[in-house]
Amino acid sequence: MMGLLWTRFFLLLFLLPPSLSDPSDELCLSHLSQSLEDPNKSLQNWTKSTFANPCSGFTSYLQGATCNNGRIYKLSLTNLSLRGSLSPFLSNCTNLQTLDLSSNFLSGPIPSDLQNLVNLAVLNLSSNRLAGQIPPQLTLCAYLNVIDLHDNLLSGPIPQQLGLLVRLSTFDVSGNRLSGPIPTSLGNRSGNLPRFNASSFEGNKDLYGYPLPAMKNKGLSVMAIVGIGLGSGFASLVLSFTGVCIWLKVTERKMALEEGKISQLMPDY
Ligand SMILES: *[C@@H]1O[C@H](CO)[C@@H](O)[C@H](O)[C@H]1NC(C)=O
Ligand SMILES: *[C@@H]1O[C@H](CO)[C@@H](O)[C@H](O)[C@H]1NC(C)=O
Ligand SMILES: *[C@@H]1O[C@H](CO)[C@@H](O)[C@H](O)[C@H]1NC(C)=O
Ligand SMILES: *[C@@H]1O[C@H](CO)[C@@H](O)[C@H](O)[C@H]1NC(C)=O
Ligand SMILES: *[C@@H]1O[C@H](CO)[C@@H](O)[C@H](O)[C@H]1NC(C)=O
Ligand SMILES: *[C@@H]1O[C@H](CO)[C@@H](O)[C@H](O)[C@H]1NC(C)=O
Ligand SMILES: *[C@@H]1O[C@H](CO)[C@@H](O)[C@H](O)[C@H]1NC(C)=O
Repeated sequence: MMGLLWTRFFLLLFLLPPSLSDPSDELCLSHLSQSLEDPNKSLQNWTKSTFANPCSGFTSYLQGATCNNGRIYKLSLTNLSLRGSLSPFLSNCTNLQTLDLSSNFLSGPIPSDLQNLVNLAVLNLSSNRLAGQIPPQLTLCAYLNVIDLHDNLLSGPIPQQLGLLVRLSTFDVSGNRLSGPIPTSLGNRSGNLPRFNASSFEGNKDLYGYPLPAMKNKGLSVMAIVGIGLGSGFASLVLSFTGVCIWLKVTERKMALEEGKISQLMPDY
C-alpha cells in the first residue's frame, strides 16, 4: 500500500517537471524566429535554447510570449520594427489565444495554416505590409473575437465565410486594397450579432456596399450618366434645330429660285 503511494508520488514528480517543454511550441517559435527579421535587435531571449523551453508553468522566458500551464497562449510582438514574414508554422502553437504582431513591417501573405489555431480569439496583424488575400480558412478558428487587419496591403474580396464567426465582436479591414462587394454576413449582420460600421471597411478603393456610404464612387458615374444623357439630349435638340433651320433656309432658297424660274417662264402680261 505504502509502496504504491510512493510510486505514485514519484510518478507525479516525474510527470510534472518544472519546465514542461512542448515540441509543437518549439517548432512554432524556431520557425517564426527564422521568418522574422529583427534589425533593431529588439527580441530578447529569442534563441534556440529558449525555444526548447519557453515556459515554466506560468512563467515565460521569451519576450512577447505569455505562458499558461507550460504552453504559449499569447504572443504579442508589437511596434518592434520587425520585418520578414509570418511563418506557416505559427499554426504549431496550438494553444495560442492571442496573436498580436501589429505595428511592424511584416510582409508576405497571411498563412492559411492559421486555421489550425482552433483556440485563437484575438488576431491583430494591423499596421504591417501584409499582402495577398484574407484566407477564408480563418473561419475554422471558431473562437475568433477580434480580427484586426487594418492598414496592410491586402487585396481581393472579403471572404463571406468570415460572417459565420458568431463570436466576432471586432472586425477591421480598413486601409487595405480589398475589392468587391462587402458580404452581407459582415456588412449587415443579422439577429443580435455585433454589427460593424463603415469604419471597419473604409479606405479600400474598390470595396463597396453597405455599410459604406451608398454610391460614393458609383454616385459620380450615375451623375455622369445623367449628365451625358442631359448633354446629349440638349446637343441633339440643338442639332435638330439647326437641321430644321438649314432645311428651312434651303427650301426657302429653292422656293425663291423656283419662284424666280416660274416668274422667268411666265410671260408678263
Ligand atoms: C530571458 O531568460 C532569462 C533566463 O532564462 C530570464 O531570467 C529573463 O527574464 C528572460 N528575459 C525576458 C525578456 O523574458
Ligand atoms: C513605437 O516605438 C517607437 C520607438 O521605440 C516609439 O517612439 C513609439 O512611441 C511607439 N509607438 C507606440 C504606439 O507605442
Ligand atoms: C528601429 O530603428 C530605426 C532606425 O534605426 C528607428 O527609426 C526605429 O524607431 C526603431 N524602432 C524601434 C521600435 O525601436
Ligand atoms: C506544423 O505546422 C506546419 C505548417 O502548418 C505543418 O505542416 C506541420 O504538420 C505542423 N506540425 C505539427 C507537429 O503540428
Ligand atoms: C491592434 O493593435 C493596434 C496597434 O498595436 C491597436 O491600436 C489596436 O487597438 C489593436 N486592435 C484591437 C482590436 O485591439
Ligand atoms: C439589412 O438586413 C435587414 C434585415 O435582414 C434588411 O431589412 C435590410 O434591408 C438590410 N439592409 C441593407 C442595407 O442591406
Ligand atoms: C464604429 O464602430 C467603432 C468600433 O466599434 C466605434 O468606435 C465608432 O464610434 C463607430 N462609429 C460610428 C460612426 O458609429
